Parts: sequence; C-alpha cells; structure tokens
Amino acid sequence: MPTITCVEDLRRLHRRRVPRMFYDYADSGAWEEITYRDNERRFRDIRLRQRVAVDIEHRSLAARMLGEPVAMPVALAPCGMTGMQHPDGEIHAALAAERFGVPFTLSTMSICSIEDVAAHTSRPFWFQLYVMRDREFVARLIDRARDAGCSALVLTLDLQIMGQRHKDIRNGLSTPPRITPATVLDFARRPRWCLGMLGTRRRAFGNVVGHARGAENMKSLGEWSASQLDPTLCWDDVEWIRDRWGGKLVLKGIMEPEDARRAAAVGADAIIVSNHGGRQLDGAPASIDALPAIVDAVGGSLEIWLDGGIRSGQDVLKALAYGATGTMIGRAYLYGLGALGGPGVTRCLELIANELDLTMAFCGIRDVNDVDARVLWSP
Ligand SMILES: Cc1cc2nc3c(=O)[nH]c(=O)nc-3n(C[C@H](O)[C@H](O)[C@H](O)COP(=O)(O)O)c2cc1C
Repeated sequence: MPTITCVEDLRRLHRRRVPRMFYDYADSGAWEEITYRDNERRFRDIRLRQRVAVDIEHRSLAARMLGEPVAMPVALAPCGMTGMQHPDGEIHAALAAERFGVPFTLSTMSICSIEDVAAHTSRPFWFQLYVMRDREFVARLIDRARDAGCSALVLTLDLQIMGQRHKDIRNGLSTPPRITPATVLDFARRPRWCLGMLGTRRRAFGNVVGHARGAENMKSLGEWSASQLDPTLCWDDVEWIRDRWGGKLVLKGIMEPEDARRAAAVGADAIIVSNHGGRQLDGAPASIDALPAIVDAVGGSLEIWLDGGIRSGQDVLKALAYGATGTMIGRAYLYGLGALGGPGVTRCLELIANELDLTMAFCGIRDVNDVDARVLWSP
C-alpha cells in the first residue's frame, strides 16, 4: 500500500487504478478548464496569519450543517456515476461519510439507487435533484427521497444544459459508452477494477432505469438522458419543488448575489456557492472569489456553503474565513474512492480533518466555529 499523505496522493493512485474514461470524467472541467483550475489555484493565493503563545491544546472541529451535528463542516458533494469510480461506489462513500460523521449527498445520476443506499446505511443522507422535463418522474424522485428518509433535498440549478468536457467526448463517455480498441486495452490494464465491476449488478443509473418512462435499457437510457435536461427550469419550478418536498431545501450552483437573494426569498435553508467544479460555465470565477459578495448579500439569513477546488483542510478553513458556514468536497473524495474504495474516502476525510485541525492550531484557534476573516493575512 503506497503512503498517502495528501489528497494529491489519492488522485495519483486513482488515476492508476481506474479506467481512463472514468478517471477523466472526475478530473475534468468544461472547455479549457480555466474555472476548474482557478477553483484550486485561488485557494493557494490566500495567506493566513500565524499566531503564537495561544493555548491551543483542546481543539474542536464539531459543527452543524442544516442543524445536524457534523464531525467537521465538510459534506460529500453529489457526484454522478460515483459507482463507476469503484464498484458500488455510492454505498461505500455513504458508509464512509456516516462512520466519519459528515453528510453524504446522493446524485440523481448515481449508479446505486436511493433505496439501495438507504438499505445499506443507517443514518439519513441528502438527495440531490436534477430537474428533468418529465415532471412526473421528478415528483416521484422527490417522493422516493422522502420515503427513503433523506433529510435534505439539494436542488442543482446550474445544469439546465450540459457543459462541454472535451475529455469525455474524446474518451467516448456517453450512454451507452463508445468502445474502441484503445478503451478495451485501457480496461484490460485495470483488472482489479474490471473484476469488481463484474462482481456487481449496479452498473447503470439506478434512480432512472426502470423508473423513468423511456429509459428501460442502455440504448433508450442514452436517448432519455440526452432529451431530459430542462432548459426551461425557473424559480416557479423551485417553488413547486420546495412545496412538494416540504423538508430542508438546499439550492446548489449560486454564483451571484442576485440569485442568492432570490434563493433566500424562496425560503432555502442553505445555498451552495458553486460553479459545479468548473464543469459548466468555463470562464466563471473561482467559487472562493464569488463567495464574499454573496455573504454580504445574504449572510445571516441562511447557511452559505462553498464547493469547488477544496483539496485540503486548509482550503476548508479558508472558505470559512471568507464567510462560508460549511463546505462540500467532490473530486477529493472521488480520488479516495477510485484509489482505495471506501477506506480511501475515509482516508480523504481523515487528511482533511487533520489539516483543518493543524491549520486552526497554527492560527491560534481552538474551535472551528470561531474561524473568521481575522485569520486572513493581508500585506
Ligand atoms: C465527477 C463529478 C460528477 C458530478 N456530478 C454532479 C451531479 O450529479 N450533481 C451535482 O449537483 N453536481 C455534480 N458535480 C459537482 C459537485 O457536486 C461539486 O459541485 C464539485 O465537484 C465541487 O468541486 P470539486 O470537485 O473541485 O470539489 C459533479 C462533480 C464531479 C467531479
């Protein structure tokens, strides 16, 4: 087992162990990947104030997200096709999150279904909703999430149409996948992954196949997916979904103060400042750069979380210092999952918790809830 000291180690191992088609799906952004890379880079530009001779012996990372106690203010973001990074990936990631004490969010486009994940976990998870043209299907998904005991609905607003990711097109990542001799060779080089996939029955979109009209098999599923994203999605739909769901509502993909105010006005419990990990509008600012104006606009009226580019506990602390009340990680845990399965997700969470804890200590802070702009250094 290679030594894993940081999320980057997990990424390298993920790349070695998972077929290129699926590794690239995780490690890619739209078009030139400017926003994807900015998300990571802009965290590195932030400097922190080192404090000394402060009693930092007893430290705590415990916080709350949506009123739920969490081991640290970090949740696993919804990621489609997690079950292709590792067999039964969503179940492994949800279990790792549950054991660690952080929330897990299941994507609409997961491989394992809502019911399947619920059957394998004992604590409620969150469900992420994409709005499809087939509103009957959307209504049933909401009801299924409620019946499965999901404790929050994360409604993603930034994918009314799909961003273009060059790598996915080149790799033939479509439904069904375009298989070439190069793909076969690449799969053959990853026998562990192939054996694992042969050993599971979970290989298609579990929330969709058999549940949506027109998505009975792989071929019809491809046509269904291509035609179902809904460019007409608007705030009236958000209100309809809010009323149908009736529970905690989180709006994901907010990058502008105007949209944040609208989210507060419809009664969202939290928003996620997110550019979808740089996978949609290439050219959008890094999410950490979009955060301060949103905090100014709606801070105090609802929870404000940030995702995009978080690769360490230090990034989490920087997001909190910029005014976020919580954070989400996407690729960081996918790298762990692809590298080592469930234990890799746990390792990722341990690394982040440890880095957050040490950074707090160096900044003279004992309680994560006390992190604020005072830790930021400026010349
Ligand atoms: C492989 C992958 C799949 C994703 N699928 C979804 C999804 O199904 N629904 C969603 O709301 N966001 C999805 N996202 C976006 C994440 O929820 C999150 O916003 C993003 O990953 C955060 O950036 P980070 O990966 O740099 O942490 C996906 C991201 C990745 C990397």
